[in-house]
Amino acid sequence: MTKAYDPAGEGAQMSFQGRMSYGDYLGLDQILSAQHPRSQAHDEMLFIIQHQTAELWMKLALHEISAARDNIAAGNLRPAFKMLTRVARIMEQLNSAWDVLRTMTPSEYTEFRESLGQSSGFQSYQYRMIEFVAGNRNTAMLPPHAHRPDLVESLKAELTRPSLYDVVLDRVRDAGFDLPERGQRDQPHQSDPAVNAAWAAIYDNPEQYWELYELAEKLVDFEDYFRRWRFNHVTTVERVIGFKRGSGGTSGVSYLRRMLDVVLFPDLWEMRTKL
Ligand code: HEM
Repeated sequence: MTKAYDPAGEGAQMSFQGRMSYGDYLGLDQILSAQHPRSQAHDEMLFIIQHQTAELWMKLALHEISAARDNIAAGNLRPAFKMLTRVARIMEQLNSAWDVLRTMTPSEYTEFRESLGQSSGFQSYQYRMIEFVAGNRNTAMLPPHAHRPDLVESLKAELTRPSLYDVVLDRVRDAGFDLPERGQRDQPHQSDPAVNAAWAAIYDNPEQYWELYELAEKLVDFEDYFRRWRFNHVTTVERVIGFKRGSGGTSGVSYLRRMLDVVLFPDLWEMRTKL
């Protein structure tokens, strides 16, 4: 009989007494002990892990978008391109994840729906933060976080910072375009004729403004994937709960359909009609 293969023979580290292991480095004890189903329903574990993994990816997305914003503010567009590409790939990953959740039927969800109480992704602090950093700033979304003053404080602090799009417009100004000064930034971006015209000029002359042109396409990519996420979410929600109210208390699918109209970078979409 051949002996079972032992990787120790080729030098694999086999003892982690007093040495940092894989689980130590990744904090796996904390992550893998954070699933607490509140019912006996088999599918509640899927529901919990689906949300937790989405929150982990959102954490990375925020890390990348914030760093991209810092780089753009400092005039370093190339590193920002790479980060924004990664954000689009993360959104793609989140989009594919719906395929796993879609395997849950309405009857299976109903088995544990009561266990969620009033909790809902509507109260996702990181999702709101992504929207705020990108520039979709709606202060009406703050109250669900009031029970966590630390989170409200960071969301409010974000409202005082220039958004990702604001710093992009600073670079457009640097290229010689006369744009209106940054307005109050605790509300979503509105399109502006001068900004629209500047983007049209950039898209008319890609060779002259290559970096801004590429930057604009990175933002459109990000928003494109974000829209797909919203669309996949609302379709999955309709498939699972129909037109019932959401656990967070909104009208459910009607609310989410309304959110499909959110536009992060309106100038970049409107300008396309004029080209
Ligand atoms: C069967 C699965 C799901 C159902 C039935 C569902 C349902 C809903 C509903 C009805 C809303 C509207 C707010 C409310 O009244 O609750 C909502 C919002 C939200 N959900 Fe889900 N959801 C599901 C899965 C997920 C997953 C996996 C995520 C990933 C994190 C997620 C993230 C969000 C976010 C971020 C919002 C806020 C959207 C906004 O305000 O624009 N949902 N969800």
